[in-house]
Amino acid sequence: MNKELRISYKVIEANDLDETEKKLFDAAKKAREDAYAPYSNFLVGCALLLESGEIIKGSNQENAAYPSGLCAERTTIYWASANYPNAKIKKLFVLGAPRDVIEYPPTPPCGACRQSMLEYEAKQEEKIEIYIASLGGAIYKVDSIRSLLPFSFDQSFL
Ligand code: THU
Repeated sequence: MNKELRISYKVIEANDLDETEKKLFDAAKKAREDAYAPYSNFLVGCALLLESGEIIKGSNQENAAYPSGLCAERTTIYWASANYPNAKIKKLFVLGAPRDVIEYPPTPPCGACRQSMLEYEAKQEEKIEIYIASLGGAIYKVDSIRSLLPFSFDQSFL
């Protein structure tokens, strides 16, 4: 028996973003510029919108002992959860590109970050809209992390 899982995503342009989304996009861009990525020179910024309207941003943080570093998305989500444990996350923007480029395609989140996003989406029992932004190009949008991590393991199996 064959089964199929389908995901859907939207392709949007920066010009189509509403005011709040533009702020998130700008925050992710700014966060990317502040990334600490001296080893890979691949800079990633992330910005979250909390239900209060507050925007939280973060970036990838690398380490000479490579595996000790952390991606932008987890740096940001963990900071948000540590400081606002009960606040729901409404939207998440991520933007990654090598240090010296001005244009780059949308770079999707790694598997570990997807798993972390799933954890908080399940915890808050509300979807998080995820925007995979780019420098000078399109933005991919999914309505839930479930679209980026179908067939996933979560707390319901424990
Ligand atoms: N990186 C992120 O920040 N997020 C991802 O989803 C993928 C990768 C970072 C980790 C590392 O600092 C650099 O990009 C190169 O892998």
